[in-house]
Amino acid sequence: KIVVLDFGSQYNQLIARRIREFGVYSELHSNEMTLEEIKKLEDVKGIVFSGGPEDVFEADAPKCDPAILTSGIPVLGICYGMQLIQQELGGKVEPGESSEYGRTTIEVTKENLLFEGTPRTQTVWMSHGNKVTELAPGFETIACSDNCPFAAAQDTERKMYTLQFHPEVRHTEYGNTLLKNFVFKICQAKANWSMHDFIETQKKAIKDKVKDDKVLLGLSGGVDSSVVAALLHEAIGDQLICMFIDHGLLRKGEAESVMETFGKNMNVNLVKIDAKDRFLSKLAGVSDPEKKRKIIGNEFVYTFDEEVKKLTEGENIKWLAQGTLYTDVIESGTKTAQTIKSHHNVGGLPKDMQFQLIEPLNTLFKDEVRELGSELGLPDEMVWRQPFPGPGLGIRILGDVTEEKLKIVQDSDAILREEIAKAGLERDIWQYFTALTNMRSVGVMGDQRTYDYAVAIRAVTSIDGMTADWARIPFDVLDKVANRIVNEVDHVNRVLYDITSKPPGTIEFE
Ligand code: XMP
Repeated sequence: KIVVLDFGSQYNQLIARRIREFGVYSELHSNEMTLEEIKKLEDVKGIVFSGGPEDVFEADAPKCDPAILTSGIPVLGICYGMQLIQQELGGKVEPGESSEYGRTTIEVTKENLLFEGTPRTQTVWMSHGNKVTELAPGFETIACSDNCPFAAAQDTERKMYTLQFHPEVRHTEYGNTLLKNFVFKICQAKANWSMHDFIETQKKAIKDKVKDDKVLLGLSGGVDSSVVAALLHEAIGDQLICMFIDHGLLRKGEAESVMETFGKNMNVNLVKIDAKDRFLSKLAGVSDPEKKRKIIGNEFVYTFDEEVKKLTEGENIKWLAQGTLYTDVIESGTKTAQTIKSHHNVGGLPKDMQFQLIEPLNTLFKDEVRELGSELGLPDEMVWRQPFPGPGLGIRILGDVTEEKLKIVQDSDAILREEIAKAGLERDIWQYFTALTNMRSVGVMGDQRTYDYAVAIRAVTSIDGMTADWARIPFDVLDKVANRIVNEVDHVNRVLYDITSKPPGTIEFE
């Protein structure tokens, strides 16, 4: 295994992730981890020092256990990691006159293991203000750029390698080769890790942590909470209690699918709360989008709170599991992510809940979570589920929410999903759904004048939901969808296709 020590760079988890892609287990740990603690992790073949935003020469800059630098375990220092190693071993780091950001060309000046198999000149991604002005004794330069005489340096004796640039980001042309060389040629690690091993390690870690205690999980049917449920169920079986709150604003067939997958097929200890009436009565007559969101968010918290109180009357539940991903950890801006993810469930969970958290996915990226879900045997439709907003269809019905309108969105959305699946476009389009506009218009059906609702189709391509482009769904697919919606869904006589990108539009309508 390769340990990555975290000095605060936004790319740090990416390093671990790249190494896992090579089939070698890697995990991220605090920079404060001592050599002794690292040795306890067993079979550590190498250590990577990540980049970081601090100035290494400041008194309160993050440091490492000095014993690591004399341990004989191969070390790769990246950016801040390089500067720290150089400074700690007797080199010099100073503020640069000009910072260096972005693509830079470097030249490899000496044959070495780290750059093996890469060309003499290559493009790398730099992102630093300070620079090493004098190498520590024992080190020699192996690559330089115009601006940076020590773009890379090595001490083969101590098996230490330092890079001023970031090999883990895609813009570094041969970054993967460099990391591979470090992992396989320098650390001599073996590619024998897979998602299956991750499951086994996590199962053991979870079991060791919770022992015989019960764990509660709010299951939403989304990818993350579903994968956590499957993993915990394998780890601790009936000690896991899943609570699924059906607020009635789910897509057609969704509640049934959650019950079938987890309740029936996997035999998970699952409590379903039917809260549709409660939500709909609170929403009655409210058409302001922000008010609707607030009502749904608050109601979710109240329901969760009440139901948990009922549950915990009979049992002592100590743990709360959450499907926090690594990206959520970054967004929350904390190292340990102890705060409950506010966007995980609608509006977050009650602040005063006295649970200890288990977050087994917090080192993974979304695509790794999907892989994990498949490995755990979850069906494709669940693992590849598109994002769904916490407030559910409540924000896809413009204006006030009624039972009738809910049915229109559910039915039209189900038709869209069916046709997209038939056309094999599910994985090409990031998110696709229908929304019910609050517009009614005149139409004609079978010689009869109609005055009915217009349904809008929204479909976008995106990487992360922050920006999006409208999806170019083929006209014949759109045609089929529109025809079916008008014919099969009552009270709809018009279908519109939203061709707004984000920005300036948002993905959802409210
Ligand atoms: P917008 O509409 O802001 O949506 O462009 C961006 C992404 O976020 C989802 N979304 C939400 N997810 N709670 C959530 O969990 C919410 O309140 C919420 N609002 C929007 C939306 O579906 C899209 O994927």
